[in-house]
Amino acid sequence: MGKSFYIETVGCQMNVLDSELVAASLQRAGYQAVDTPRQADAIFFNTCSVRQHAEDKIYSALGRLKHVKDRHPHKVIGVLGCMAQKDQERIFRRAPHVDLVVGPGQLAQLPALLERIHGGMGPQIEVSLDRKGGSRTEVEESFERFDPVREAPARPTRHQAMVRIMLGCDKFCTYCIVPSVRGPEQSRPVEQIEAEVRQLADQGCLEVTLIGQTVNSYRAVSGVRTFRLSDLLARLHGIEGIRRFKFVTNYPRHMTTDLLEAVRDLERVSPYLHVPAQSGANSVLKRMKRGYTVEQYREMLAEIRQIVPHAAVTSDFIVGFCGESEDDFQETVALVREARFKNSFIFKYSPRAGTKSAELYEDDVSDEVKRRRNNELLAIQNAISEEQSRALVDQTLEILVEGPSKAAQRQTAGDILQLTGRTVCDRIVVFPGHRRLIGQILPVRITKANAFTLFGEVAVNG
Ligand code: SAH
Ligand code: SF4
Ligand code: F3S
Repeated sequence: MGKSFYIETVGCQMNVLDSELVAASLQRAGYQAVDTPRQADAIFFNTCSVRQHAEDKIYSALGRLKHVKDRHPHKVIGVLGCMAQKDQERIFRRAPHVDLVVGPGQLAQLPALLERIHGGMGPQIEVSLDRKGGSRTEVEESFERFDPVREAPARPTRHQAMVRIMLGCDKFCTYCIVPSVRGPEQSRPVEQIEAEVRQLADQGCLEVTLIGQTVNSYRAVSGVRTFRLSDLLARLHGIEGIRRFKFVTNYPRHMTTDLLEAVRDLERVSPYLHVPAQSGANSVLKRMKRGYTVEQYREMLAEIRQIVPHAAVTSDFIVGFCGESEDDFQETVALVREARFKNSFIFKYSPRAGTKSAELYEDDVSDEVKRRRNNELLAIQNAISEEQSRALVDQTLEILVEGPSKAAQRQTAGDILQLTGRTVCDRIVVFPGHRRLIGQILPVRITKANAFTLFGEVAVNG
């Protein structure tokens, strides 16, 4: 019976964390992680449904595995995560060689489900009922059992970790599938989060990123106190060993003064704020049901600049949303020019069945126009990103060294390599250095820069 697995992950940080926890729980159950699907006895896809393209890629990857399954009928093929929750049994119909479908709230059951398959019980499916159907306790339990499974070797890098502080989403932006695949918004108890962060600190972790779909909506009652994100950060800040705290993703309306003051006052909280605007036009924001106007978004930006002037702010935008006119788009362009985001992720609107926008509005912007708007906005943002990067040349920045750069990962000989690391503001820095610098925080002098990467050299003898 096979005991090795391979897992491929797409989607957001929630999925990256889920895959890490899946890997850790399988390793505990005696399975071994391998680097290629070919070597693996079980192949998992941790999937995303946020755009059609993400789903298409998974279905074609599944299609390509059909002949592999024909030749090796005992290889287990599993679809995990958001698309599993969204498509459920339909996955078996579209790809009959799939053995396993597991939603994001049921991932803790994966080792047991695999045992059932190995025991000859046939294909298995575990997904949440709909948002109302008792999923709250079910998912909460999975949370408690699953998230504490932290093991350094399962993490992409040993010195950095994500910690979920909330799951689900109740915002229901009209374009978004997340609330229906990830269930209701729930904040995790402070004590649980604190215990997890302490455990990570004991394992030598230096940087913790707190994650949630709207992370700054965090609210949990502990005894007589209510903890908001600012309170949680203050509490975690005392944990020895953790040198940096980051948090993503922020919801603009909940970017409160107390949180910005916490970022300003807590030395180890990174001045890095991902706070997606989605559009610069009020009519579009309204149809998206984002809950703010562009004026309110601008006020929020002004408050960020006032309280944390050196913060790096980043955003997401959707172009070509239903009814987006050229004038609307130009308002987004104006916002991007003015806001000077460190970077922006830009997406073409993709209608998702089951969302309000797909139901209520026509997807009336052609793909060609979406593509043009995407490229135009990206070019403007990239020029701004490049200017900001260039301004850092000759400065010396504190870098957490993550590991060999992509190019250096193929290098087998020698101890001096191209290393990659990050600044507190989440800027990527590449520089030559000895392997043993991995996992340290050091000063690096920036010598060169482009829009996405800074290049430099270690500023002290390392
Ligand atoms: N919770 C986060 C992000 C959720 S999904 C937030 O509220 O910001 C990540 C990004 O995908 C979103 O910010 C949005 O820009 C984009 N996105 C979500 N649904 C989409 C859709 N139907 N089409 C295109 N982009 C979408
Ligand atoms: Fe989706 Fe909006 Fe929730 Fe973000 S806040 S996950 S965009 S519904
Ligand atoms: Fe995708 Fe699910 Fe994240 S739909 S964006 S992986 S929560």
